[in-house]
Amino acid sequence: MDARNIGLRNIEVADTKICSIDGENGKLIYRGFDILDLVNHSTFEETSYLLLFGELPSPEQLADFGRRLREARGIPEPMIKNMKNRPKRAQPMDVLQSCVAELADYDLNIDDFSKEAHTRRAITLIAKIPSIVAAWNRIRTGQHVVDPMEEGSHAANFLYMLRGVEPSAEEAKVMDICFILHAEHSFNASTFAAREISSTRASMYAAISGAVGALSGELHGGANVQVMKMLLEIGDPANVEKWVAGRLSSGGRIMGMGHAVYRTTDPRADILSRLSKAISKEKNNKWFEITERVEKATKKWMLEHKGQAIYPNVDLYSASIYYSMGIPMDLNTPIFAISRISGWASHVIEEKFAEAAPKPALYRPKAVYIGRYCGPMGCEYVPLSERKQQVA
Ligand code: COA
Repeated sequence: MDARNIGLRNIEVADTKICSIDGENGKLIYRGFDILDLVNHSTFEETSYLLLFGELPSPEQLADFGRRLREARGIPEPMIKNMKNRPKRAQPMDVLQSCVAELADYDLNIDDFSKEAHTRRAITLIAKIPSIVAAWNRIRTGQHVVDPMEEGSHAANFLYMLRGVEPSAEEAKVMDICFILHAEHSFNASTFAAREISSTRASMYAAISGAVGALSGELHGGANVQVMKMLLEIGDPANVEKWVAGRLSSGGRIMGMGHAVYRTTDPRADILSRLSKAISKEKNNKWFEITERVEKATKKWMLEHKGQAIYPNVDLYSASIYYSMGIPMDLNTPIFAISRISGWASHVIEEKFAEAAPKPALYRPKAVYIGRYCGPMGCEYVPLSERKQQVA
């Protein structure tokens, strides 16, 4: 097997109109629009509309979309009850994954396989995922579940439901930018999981809950939790270089650094780095300084020892932003999911309804079998009573 293709690297599996990434030049484009323009001029709601429908909305379309999102924010009472019955130690991503699957129970038209029904499901999921994340955090910390805001942006509402008090306009703006930046990223592991599940004609809830599971791993969305753990362990800017060298020379990874596609700085990391710097300055904390030194020390070590640098990805600077905002560390990945749902749902709809060719009826990659081989007739089956214990 060609080593470069292991893990589907460089393999084209489908066409998409949703997102393109220029990994050499650090460009990220949603539906033809540069992520920098979206951060500077758009909102998460407008970006979600763009991802879902393929066009920027008119003022009326955006107002209607915002209204539909706000109206769908509430979560079913039995779901809250079920959450209250869970052990408080349950991981937020596990709770989210099962709640997303549970939402199928409340879909009164679950047998409607039309594009309209899937768009409605996408709006439901975009609206309810932040409410689920906030509700679980309050339940596990012994606080009452906060009802959603009737008005207020998606970002402001999430912070309100999480804390029970309205955020400042500045905080809501930072959250909104983080949501825009995490909303979509082509065929990453969780999106591919969602598309693969969709290709079996499973429901959108099944596809999205699978995507939440894929996102939770530390080589993907879970990296932003590991980054914060790393920053806390380093503890002081003066410790960075020694810590990084120790980690890398023992074969460990630096979370938040490196990417399967980018060969330069992830454009999202550039924006998040500026936000992290501003928020650390405002809060007078050390997290930006430590993070920036981790970036520099990792690049230097990799260049010196492996001949090529690795660059920060989306998770490196987001961790300190959320921490500085007082958000519990293990909500970093659920926040990623709150945002990525827009991309996932757009991909599920594209997978199910796009006419673009080529697109597989069902994903089915090929593996190279390297296991036991006893000839074309197979191995001789020895009855259990005659088998001797094998020495491993
Ligand atoms: N720390 C240490 N070494 C790393 C690294 C990291 N964060 N990222 C990549 N490398 C190493 C690889 O092991 C590889 O070394 P090798 O040539 O000796 O095998 C080399 O750098 C080039 O790796 P590359 O091919 O560019 O990346 P990849 O496809 O192997 O890995 C990731 C991509 C994302 C899995 C990897 O960068 C990683 O584990 N990063 C940390 C987790 C993380 O932040 N994930 C979120 C991604 S958005």
